Amino acid sequence: MSDPVAERFQRIAARPVVLDVQNLGMSFPGAGGSLIHALHDVSFQVRRREFITVVGASGCGKSTLVRILAGLTSHTAGEVLLDGKPVNGPGPDRGMVFQGYTLFPWLSVLKNVMFGLDMIGRGHDAAKAEALQWIELVGLAHKADAWPHQLSGGQRQRVAIARALAAGPRILLMDEPFSSVDPIVRDELQQEVLRLQSELAKTIVFVSHDIDEAFLLGDQVIVLAQGGEIVQQGTPEQILADPANDFVASFIGADRGKRRLTVSPTTSRGDDRVLVDAGGYPVGVIAAPDGRLTISNGSPKSRSVSNKTDQAGDA
Ligand SMILES: Nc1ncnc2c1ncn2[C@@H]1O[C@H](COP(=O)(O)OP(=O)(O)OP(=O)(O)O)[C@@H](O)[C@H]1O
Ligand SMILES: [Mg+2]
Repeated sequence: MSDPVAERFQRIAARPVVLDVQNLGMSFPGAGGSLIHALHDVSFQVRRREFITVVGASGCGKSTLVRILAGLTSHTAGEVLLDGKPVNGPGPDRGMVFQGYTLFPWLSVLKNVMFGLDMIGRGHDAAKAEALQWIELVGLAHKADAWPHQLSGGQRQRVAIARALAAGPRILLMDEPFSSVDPIVRDELQQEVLRLQSELAKTIVFVSHDIDEAFLLGDQVIVLAQGGEIVQQGTPEQILADPANDFVASFIGADRGKRRLTVSPTTSRGDDRVLVDAGGYPVGVIAAPDGRLTISNGSPKSRSVSNKTDQAGDA
């Protein structure tokens, strides 16, 4: 019988590595000559068109990691390679979307999105035409001439995504981009970013403190603990089924962790696979064909976009 989840990850594993993080460490100077270890020996790879989520509690080094990847913060150990070249500063090959609303308040939506295109030397007319296309893609064509203060929080983040994508980055870095918007808008934006990734075939590193968000979005999920160490990396299915330790078990939810979820060998719904707890009770579905997880306890969420294909364009 074909296994859509395994096939999906075999396809991803065959793709070239875009981002290679090797033994990354970052220590900030603390009070009285002490050191604050924000990241310790962090290593992982992101392959082309892969969606990685990094999840962990407040202060575990998520923003430090993503800022180092963006080249906005230096590191004290290890190396970050983008397409094999060391990252030593910011560049248009990486697009950033931050938690706060970071649009330039003195520029219209159109000018905000044109900003990155101007930076990479597009002429004015080409930049304007391209920016309008990006604004349309995020569903805000009617707001192109609006000012940021005239937009809702969700709309501002859509513009921030358009601005980050406009310069054609190799990789999109997102640091808790949806944590300031209300839950309904957040759901919409999560689906939007999945749609964009599916259509544009982008490579994405997405930071979240919300495990449901991390499981929904990520092909792979990296769980960070205090001190900035990776405690587990795997597919949502792997992490749910077998939390690496008590910390991960409690982080993904005491109920879920204690249940020791497994994928039922017998129960199936077509090509979907069913997650069952230790008592054989079905608690979630790994939906075919894209292998995304729908968790039936907690907050049910699922992908509404189809899986990206290997024929999709490069990111
Ligand atoms: N510029 C800095 N100087 C000193 N310490 C810092 C600096 N930036 C971050 N830290 C420390 O590094 C650790 C990790 O911070 P970071 O902002 O990366 O955490 P985070 O996981 O993003 O947290 P949150 O979920 O609250 O955003 C924290 O202990 C923080 O206080
Ligand atoms: Mg942070």
